Amino acid sequence: MKKPFCILTHSLPKEWLESLEGRVDLLIGPTEPPGLAPQLMDRLYEADGLLTILIDRVDDELLAKAPRLKVVSNMAVGVDNIDLAACKKRGILVGNTPDVLTEGTADLTMAILLSAARKLPQASQDAREGLWKTWSPTGWLGADLTGATLGIIGLGKIGKAVAKRAKGFGMRLVYTDSIRQLDQESLLNITYLSMDELLANSDFVTIHCPLLPETRGLLNESAMRKMKRTAILINAARGPIVDTPALLRALREGWITAAALDVTDPEPLPASHPLYSLTNCLIVPHIGSATYGTRQKMCELACANLLAGVEGRSLVHQIK
Ligand code: DGY
Repeated sequence: MKKPFCILTHSLPKEWLESLEGRVDLLIGPTEPPGLAPQLMDRLYEADGLLTILIDRVDDELLAKAPRLKVVSNMAVGVDNIDLAACKKRGILVGNTPDVLTEGTADLTMAILLSAARKLPQASQDAREGLWKTWSPTGWLGADLTGATLGIIGLGKIGKAVAKRAKGFGMRLVYTDSIRQLDQESLLNITYLSMDELLANSDFVTIHCPLLPETRGLLNESAMRKMKRTAILINAARGPIVDTPALLRALREGWITAAALDVTDPEPLPASHPLYSLTNCLIVPHIGSATYGTRQKMCELACANLLAGVEGRSLVHQIK
């Protein structure tokens, strides 16, 4: 019997793809660049399944070239790279990979939060450059975590995992979300605030909501001007939730004290971008889920969704 034909947009380690062996005919794209390489585009017309990563845009134009497609399996929890309405209209299932990246992403959030709070990049660079002349009572002073207020925007799985970690650092927790979560409030000892109250009261603001039309530019000039001048903004969710030109001004003009970004807009942020020239802006290249274990689990889950879709079963994680 003919096996389902699937396209994997970018090459991934063979051992992560073991579950697909013998079950599908697989066409694998190059490691870079984003999107579907021309040789993949030419075969879309016969594809039953498509395994994408978050740098691939799946829009109506692409779907029109794939009349047989049953499933788009995205190796990411975020699905903002996929036109969900267009998939729905064509009866194509969309899968994603939640849960397996929760802890890794929360770890990275705390890592960049701590790094920005304690000015690690600057301190490390100064040491390398011979500026460490003595133990300085007033050198490289950073922000305290104990007793500081952490404002979490979006108390989903990752937001909660960050809350648990921050609690261990003695931080006071507040959150805002479209839905109030009373059970979590007592469990995590976290207080619900409106967005404006959270911005005004937090020493650290960390973003964990999805990128949706209503969250695009959520952290704009008006929002950043409501934050404490001493506050640090952390974004490990999606770049466009923060208005980049406004952030640049906020950091240059001191509306807030620092930012730590795992995601940017645009992404990747070009090496010439002025944000890189600011010592109060820490930028890492979207590595929230970048641990060996996490990425392998994400891939295995994406493969499970792909197989289920092409074999006519329910996906393990399906976007409704
Ligand atoms: C996701 O899965 O959406 C993350 O951004 C990957 O790190």
